[in-house]
Amino acid sequence: MVHINFGCSIAVFTLVSTATADCTRASLLAASENYLTAQGTGDLQPLFASDFTYLENNKTKDFNSSVLSSPLNITHNHTLLDTIACATYTELVITDPKKQYLIGTQIHYINTSGTSLQISMIDAIVSTTGDWQFNATKSLSYIESEDWSPLPTSSQSTRTYLLSTADAYLDLWGANNASAHVPWGTPCDRMEGSAYTGKGTPTDSCNVGIPTTIQLPNVARRYVVDEGMGCVSVLCVFQCMRNAPDSHEFRVVDGRLRYVHTMTVMRSNA
Ligand SMILES: *[C@@H]1O[C@H](CO)[C@@H](O)[C@H](O)[C@H]1NC(C)=O
Ligand SMILES: *[C@@H]1O[C@H](CO)[C@@H](O)[C@H](O)[C@H]1NC(C)=O
Ligand SMILES: *[C@@H]1O[C@H](CO)[C@@H](O)[C@H](O)[C@H]1NC(C)=O
Ligand SMILES: *[C@@H]1O[C@H](CO)[C@@H](O)[C@H](O)[C@H]1NC(C)=O
Ligand SMILES: *[C@@H]1O[C@H](CO)[C@@H](O)[C@H](O)[C@H]1NC(C)=O
Ligand SMILES: *[C@@H]1O[C@H](CO)[C@@H](O)[C@H](O)[C@H]1NC(C)=O
Ligand SMILES: *[C@@H]1O[C@H](CO)[C@@H](O)[C@H](O)[C@H]1NC(C)=O
Repeated sequence: MVHINFGCSIAVFTLVSTATADCTRASLLAASENYLTAQGTGDLQPLFASDFTYLENNKTKDFNSSVLSSPLNITHNHTLLDTIACATYTELVITDPKKQYLIGTQIHYINTSGTSLQISMIDAIVSTTGDWQFNATKSLSYIESEDWSPLPTSSQSTRTYLLSTADAYLDLWGANNASAHVPWGTPCDRMEGSAYTGKGTPTDSCNVGIPTTIQLPNVARRYVVDEGMGCVSVLCVFQCMRNAPDSHEFRVVDGRLRYVHTMTVMRSNA
């Protein structure tokens, strides 16, 4: 069992997507596949809208000197499609012995009525050696033991329920907030970097190692929701962990929290 004392609560800031036109699952899927292919070669240029913004670890950066603009040998990927926000979230694991990464990338698109969507913003959490519990090989072994397949309709939750579950978890985590009711599942497994709360058994619990003292809230939450996957991605800032740039991904099955994956950037030079 892993006892990890970081936390936070309340204060929700939502970045509103600039997208207004329709984004279909098919066009988001095609865009996410373009992104993955381009990430493999390090050439994402053709996909950008003219007003493109790049955020890496909660800082505006020059995309051309970013980790995402260099070729990465992707070992694992998993993507959420959000037709309402016109956005995707992709979890990447890179176990390249030269340099390992866990990367959580929210990509916001605009529909300019062309044949494909254009990227208006990339908001990436890039974690590597030196970050919270980082070990990409170990993370990969846990991820490969989990089931992240699309859910049958009967096991899906509403967008509102998914968002409230993510917020309740993040609220509980900081302020020891008695009103934050997380619908814990059994089993539930939480992976923080490469630290795992469970053992892959039917009694695994995520309701462990929750801080019991009041801590600074975690803020600047940005959401991508995929009802068909039962998943919510939240990028945020963990103020109580030296303002760490952070990614939390939640998977909810039959109304109960099943998996939590986190990436928390602790390097002072990130
Ligand atoms: C853009 O929006 C239009 C109008 O809603 C829609 O018909 C079209 O499929 C969308 N394009 C993409 C690439 O999603
Ligand atoms: C980084 O996070 C803080 C919240 O702690 C937020 O106020 C700030 O705007 C963020 N920076 C960027 C570039 O978004
Ligand atoms: C990256 O550099 C190229 C060539 O200098 C430039 O055309 C492009 O606009 C830059 N891309 C971004 C996203 O800054
Ligand atoms: C990419 O990684 C795989 C193993 O995950 C390895 O077999 C392959 O050689 C790597 N390719 C490059 C170009 O490094
Ligand atoms: C992404 O993952 C899917 C399986 O989920 C795989 O089929 C695909 O080849 C992967 N793409 C890349 C670029 O690694
Ligand atoms: C990462 O975890 C693996 C076990 O999955 C272990 O063999 C390896 O030594 C770890 N690497 C580091 C740098 O701790
Ligand atoms: C407590 O959690 C609830 C549910 O997530 C939230 O609505 C409320 O704002 C939180 N209050 C405090 C003081 O953290």
